Amino acid sequence: MDILKPSAVVGTNSWGSATYGKMLRGESVGVDTIRACFERAKEKGLLIFDLAQDYGLGKAQKMIGEFGTEDVIISAKFTPTGSYKSGQVRKSFEKDLQDFNRDYVDIYWLHLPSDIEANLSEIIDLYKEGKIKHIGISNFTLEECVKAKAILDKAGIPLYGVQNHYSLINREWEKNGLVDWCFRNGISFWAWAVLEEGMLTDPKVKTKMSLMKLMFNRKKRKLHSLYQLMEKVGEAHGITIPQVAMAFCASKGIVPVCGCRKPYQVDQLQDAVSVCLSDSEIKSLENEADKLNVKILGADMFRFAVKKSK
Ligand SMILES: NC(=O)c1ccc[n+]([C@@H]2O[C@H](COP(=O)([O-])OP(=O)(O)OC[C@H]3O[C@@H](n4cnc5c(N)ncnc54)[C@H](OP(=O)(O)O)[C@@H]3O)[C@@H](O)[C@H]2O)c1
Repeated sequence: MDILKPSAVVGTNSWGSATYGKMLRGESVGVDTIRACFERAKEKGLLIFDLAQDYGLGKAQKMIGEFGTEDVIISAKFTPTGSYKSGQVRKSFEKDLQDFNRDYVDIYWLHLPSDIEANLSEIIDLYKEGKIKHIGISNFTLEECVKAKAILDKAGIPLYGVQNHYSLINREWEKNGLVDWCFRNGISFWAWAVLEEGMLTDPKVKTKMSLMKLMFNRKKRKLHSLYQLMEKVGEAHGITIPQVAMAFCASKGIVPVCGCRKPYQVDQLQDAVSVCLSDSEIKSLENEADKLNVKILGADMFRFAVKKSK
């Protein structure tokens, strides 16, 4: 897999913690199933796994370290919280390396645009030491992206990617020009939660009671006509409703980061991203989504956690 042009990325947010899986998704999945999912992804050539210290309530990183990270591409993050303290990135990064049982990380993201200059300068040091191969930023606005790119340009380091929330029903970063800015600058755009945390999947499939279901089922019902259209588009390509959501991103050159914890989900992700939707299919899906104007996750939903710059 070309790290500069990945077709799709396996998200690990719901790996590991049974409590988290059950509470959020209505079902916990055992370690054997997650390991089988990991192995299937490797067989399929989906080699990039997206991680962060808090995923699976702190268990996802340790889990992948135990599975073995020698043949995979690790995408990990530094999440700034509280006031900036010198050395905080390196300290957190060293813990990551222990979890991964590795001496480097392939792609390392600044998870939030807090203390951009100070945090990036620590990430740049790690890059120069060869411990990080590519640098990305996540949950950044266009203005913040421009600032981060200027810092990296000054150090002679390319900005690898921007990882923000994006899905068929939430295309704010495209509408406000951020996605286009990435493409014009040769920067990869990764879309997290293309399935809206499982809410943009087949409504006919009964899901167990969960926090997501409790919070969003009313909104899900409003998406009925979009699901019908997705089903029709999917039938033309032999794919399911959630696969249409994945193919929608891939057809636009956007990298879908999709939460997979079961082997069939990896199969479906791989098949979906090889489907190219036509311009008219894309337009009709967008028109229907815009007409309904239902939002599940916010495009910039972690803004509350960003430290205000002085
Ligand atoms: N950078 C950031 O700030 C940020 C924030 C959030 C997430 N992320 C990344 O983005 C990834 C994706 O987000 P997510 O995992 O939270 O949610 P998601 O990918 O939007 O949705 C995951 C849900 O979709 C279901 N699903 C997956 N594949 C499916 C398929 N083929 N058919 C039907 N349902 C399917 C899963 O079902 P099951 O319940 O059956 O497993 C799960 O409930 C995360 O894992 C993480 O790596 C990044």
